[in-house]
Amino acid sequence: MTTAFDPIDLGGVPLANRIAMAPMTRSRVGHDGVPDELTVEYYAQRATAGLIISEGVQPSAVGQGYPGTPGLHTAAQVAGWRRVTDAVHRRGGRIFAQIMHAGRIGHPDVLPEGLVNVGASPVAARGQVFTGRALQDFVVPRELTGAEVRTTIADFAAAARRAVDAGFDGVELHGANGYLIHQFLAPGSNRRTDEWGGSVEGRIRFAVETARAVAAEIGGDRTGIRISPGNPFNDIDEPEPEPAYTALVKELDQFGLAYLHVGEVSSQLRDLTHTLRGLFSGAFLLNPATAPRHTGPQELALIEDGTADVITFGALFLANPDLPARLRQGGPYNVPDAATFYGGGAQGYTDYPTL
Ligand SMILES: Cc1cc2nc3c(=O)[nH]c(=O)nc-3n(C[C@H](O)[C@H](O)[C@H](O)COP(=O)(O)O)c2cc1C
Repeated sequence: MTTAFDPIDLGGVPLANRIAMAPMTRSRVGHDGVPDELTVEYYAQRATAGLIISEGVQPSAVGQGYPGTPGLHTAAQVAGWRRVTDAVHRRGGRIFAQIMHAGRIGHPDVLPEGLVNVGASPVAARGQVFTGRALQDFVVPRELTGAEVRTTIADFAAAARRAVDAGFDGVELHGANGYLIHQFLAPGSNRRTDEWGGSVEGRIRFAVETARAVAAEIGGDRTGIRISPGNPFNDIDEPEPEPAYTALVKELDQFGLAYLHVGEVSSQLRDLTHTLRGLFSGAFLLNPATAPRHTGPQELALIEDGTADVITFGALFLANPDLPARLRQGGPYNVPDAATFYGGGAQGYTDYPTL
């Protein structure tokens, strides 16, 4: 029987175990989006993960959704990430960069002077975002022109190249949780009538073409993608996820991707999880539906019963830098402190104790 403590190959990347750290935005870098010494320490502390998936990283200035998130669009950011990846590799770990374009989620006040948020269609998300000083309503995004859609895809590919230059083992495209790729997938936020919208084929095109461009740039075996079918987060309206996501995964499978990462939002969607896994040839990473609690030791059984190849842990990994060792011996576990999830310094970031 395969267990969480058995190794696995992801594309060509050998992982020591099947316990991965889920991508988590921590909003702790400066305005330049450059990872610093504290970022290095945070990720290095978690290097016993089979795989670390980084926090969401913007591929371009306009792709930033929140204050204090890092980028992969300047030379200084590449140099900052190089120190992170070197530290993780020195400790025997593996790390992919999550490339996250926030699209309509965010606010012009978070962006450099003169930039406005962009999206598939001029439809604002209901809700608010913390812009550094205050909570503000999401704005109506400027609709990307057809030519700009192509440029945005090229920005993903360029960021993927910079990720590899920075020493990442690969990249994960953030197609989940209501950010730009998901905004194209969902009918509520994509009202386009051109080739990038309308039918299922149109709505999945941005995700497919982004994966194609990134795989062409750095290799399919270094490219993963995260999706969260039916996730209403960030005002996504996606009443019938199955047709779009099965079509999407069938298309993605042609690129020989390293992995598919499903963020499962409801246990009622477990059948769809199984279906998507069956349609995909690469490794299958699962962040299982467990709400209201966090993913925990119970979910390791999903590897043993073959539901997933790798389980990704969010909050529990945030609070337990040595999570694989704790899972192996059955705990105990530090409790995640939600008050320090976003922003601030070392507290709630690098000060969770190891065993
Ligand atoms: C502080 C925090 C930040 C997060 N940021 C991201 C992110 O940048 N990208 C992403 O895909 N998911 C993000 N997530 C979602 C997690 O990856 C994960 O799906 C979620 O926490 C549920 O898993 P869990 O129960 O293991 O924590 C974040 C979650 C938390 C707690």
